[in-house]
Amino acid sequence: MRAATIAGFFLPLAASIALPRPDKVDYEGYKVFRLNTEHGLAQVQEKLSTINFDQWNIDSSRHIDISVSPEQLAAFEALGLDFHVMHENLGRSLAEESAVKSKYKRQINDDAWFDQYHPYADHEQYFKDLQAALPDNSEFITYGKSYEGRDMFGLHLYGVDGPGKPAVLYHGTVHAREWITAMVIEYITLQLVTGYGVDNVTTSFLDRYDFYILPFVNPDGFVYTQEVQRLWRKNRMPPPPPPANQSCFGLDVNRNWDQEWDGNPLGASPNPCSQTYRGEYPSSSPENQALTALADKLGAGAGIKLFICTTSAPCIQNPPSPRAPPPTNSIPHRFDWHSYGQYILYPWGHNCTLWHSSSGAHQQLAALTGDAIRTGANGTTFTFGPSCSTLYATTGSSIDYVFAKAGAKYSYTIELRDTGDYGFVLPPAQIRGAAEEQWVGQQVMLSLLDEVLFDGEGPA
Ligand SMILES: *[C@@H]1O[C@H](CO)[C@@H](O)[C@H](O)[C@H]1NC(C)=O
Ligand SMILES: *[C@@H]1O[C@H](CO)[C@@H](O)[C@H](O)[C@H]1NC(C)=O
Ligand SMILES: *[C@@H]1O[C@H](CO)[C@@H](O)[C@H](O)[C@H]1NC(C)=O
Ligand SMILES: *[C@@H]1O[C@H](CO)[C@@H](O)[C@H](O)[C@H]1NC(C)=O
Repeated sequence: MRAATIAGFFLPLAASIALPRPDKVDYEGYKVFRLNTEHGLAQVQEKLSTINFDQWNIDSSRHIDISVSPEQLAAFEALGLDFHVMHENLGRSLAEESAVKSKYKRQINDDAWFDQYHPYADHEQYFKDLQAALPDNSEFITYGKSYEGRDMFGLHLYGVDGPGKPAVLYHGTVHAREWITAMVIEYITLQLVTGYGVDNVTTSFLDRYDFYILPFVNPDGFVYTQEVQRLWRKNRMPPPPPPANQSCFGLDVNRNWDQEWDGNPLGASPNPCSQTYRGEYPSSSPENQALTALADKLGAGAGIKLFICTTSAPCIQNPPSPRAPPPTNSIPHRFDWHSYGQYILYPWGHNCTLWHSSSGAHQQLAALTGDAIRTGANGTTFTFGPSCSTLYATTGSSIDYVFAKAGAKYSYTIELRDTGDYGFVLPPAQIRGAAEEQWVGQQVMLSLLDEVLFDGEGPA
């Protein structure tokens, strides 16, 4: 067995997730609620308009998830809404999230890594250790710098006869607060690194494709979530010069791509204060420029077989997604408090009525992947379909760009777990489950990339 171990010297890990800064946002006493909107979204929104809150999710048609500060709680409770508590005390949930004691021994195959979330510097070290565990078949790459000057890093893995085969490209942490995405990508990378030369199927993946694994495509935002504001989503670029609101930082790196960047008014926001701010012009962020250059280079080289952007539900949309409420004469059913999240989505994001010629193959591959996860791994269900019509419009998104401009054969966003209970603050105890099920799914996806899945005749 290949020794996937870095031992013999000791280099302490950063002691805890965050060295809190004086301006760190304190969520003690905040509560997070899920509000049922199935029988009257407009009424719920009208009542909510009288209080201050932060909305966590995009699609309001079935429920709205909000966090409410201690000062607003009495006013919120007086509204008499139908709700379910997601976090009784967000401050305590966040403390629990970072409280797990590190038993990790700095050996990449020490499973304890997946018991907790980690500081940015440790993640970077982890990738260097993964590289060192498969030195003849990998390189640690940097492909640009973030706005705040961090090296954007990743791992390039390849098999027999060296690099140069069609690429499989993974992105993680496009939205800073979605901590689970980097952990899941690390788990998949670990399986590839430790399985190469050991397990035939895994070996065949690296022998057929070059993997480009980019765990932090928004590093500045991620560090900000650890040091200042846990629920930060965007990057950390300052807003454009006056007259824009100078207190609103950051753009949404997944709305900044030069593909239908302003192709649909519902797909992103031109307002720098919005959570889905698209930037001043396409590819205006250094992060996006670096990602675009790498995708273009791979596309122009041996091509991209598969692109996957990992996110985690829920997200925030502005303006809200216009979707018809359920018909009033429909059969009444019990409201399902655990209904969102867990999607496998493919282009287009920008247009809900437009289909491309490989929609059928994308649909098939997503169905087989979702099936494998549901039956082979713990029963988690993933909904799949074209991004816009399945979930909501997104303009300037990575899946549209990498598919249309970098020519990827398959291009997906995978929205990882939440089961609907925790939102972005997924307890550390769920890291392993979330990661294992994605490896099950990826094994199916990677096995089928060169198969003919759909001949273009008839329904997929
Ligand atoms: C792996 O492949 C080798 C060579 O093709 C074969 O001899 C071996 O039986 C395979 N092992 C498994 C577990 O499939
Ligand atoms: C700027 O945005 C902040 C945060 O959204 C808001 O509180 C403030 O009122 C805005 N100021 C102006 C001048 O629009
Ligand atoms: C979507 O594409 C169709 C077909 O090209 C077009 O008619 C429609 O205007 C597009 N919708 C949007 C919102 O751009
Ligand atoms: C899935 O696995 C997790 C552990 O990773 C466990 O806690 C959970 O109960 C399992 N869920 C199902 C539906 O099997």
